[in-house]
Amino acid sequence: MISVAIDGPAGAGKSTISRRLADCLGFLHVDTGALYRTIGLYALRRGIPTKDCAAVTALLPEVKIDLAFTGEGQRVLLLGEDVSEAIRSPEASMAASDVSAIPEVRAFLLELQRDLAREHDVIMDGRDIGTVVLPQATVKIFLTASPEARARRRFLEQQKKGMEESYEEVLEDIRQRDYNDSHRAAAPMRQAEDAWRCDTSELDFEQSVSVIAEHIREQIGNAEKEG
Ligand code: DC
Repeated sequence: MISVAIDGPAGAGKSTISRRLADCLGFLHVDTGALYRTIGLYALRRGIPTKDCAAVTALLPEVKIDLAFTGEGQRVLLLGEDVSEAIRSPEASMAASDVSAIPEVRAFLLELQRDLAREHDVIMDGRDIGTVVLPQATVKIFLTASPEARARRRFLEQQKKGMEESYEEVLEDIRQRDYNDSHRAAAPMRQAEDAWRCDTSELDFEQSVSVIAEHIREQIGNAEKEG
């Protein structure tokens, strides 16, 4: 099986770019952030403080997450309910960042992610795919962009959906999540040593897809030659 690990900070375009790449290559796109968001959402709904390690860990046996892969992309089911939209709220984003710092939560999600890569050719995006989840991935990419470029994109995206956060709030939220994601003790976000770094600050969507697709094809070609 071929696996492409795409890691990087919030708002670098990982999910949209990965989805398009997966369509081009005929691979499954697995958005692992959605898994952390789903646990965050469940804790919020149960009224559990999302930073409370013991309380969140105690919830895990109740949580059943299924991923469904449709023509429209990945859908996430929490105890059978499709929560794909609900997990995108700013509250669920912050809750996801909190629960993702809990080692038990990361361990709980690890096998689910590895099983998918064992069974399918995947493009898997997240924060620790190249470093922890799939250290043997065929291709590793660290996708990044300046905080301002990422905030601008996310702000425009949210405006389209009718959400009311200001640009300054989005930028602050991105800075806060970058800090949390890269300073936590459990699997902090960092670039794998053998990952290719791609900065999309100055690239639009199509340009980003095209340079990354070229890199992936080249790397898969090399891996096939090596046998
Ligand atoms: O990619 P995203 O914004 O949907 O991720 C939501 C949160 O989950 C983010 O704060 C970081 C965390 N996350 C993680 O710790 N590891 C992953 N593989 C994916 C996401």
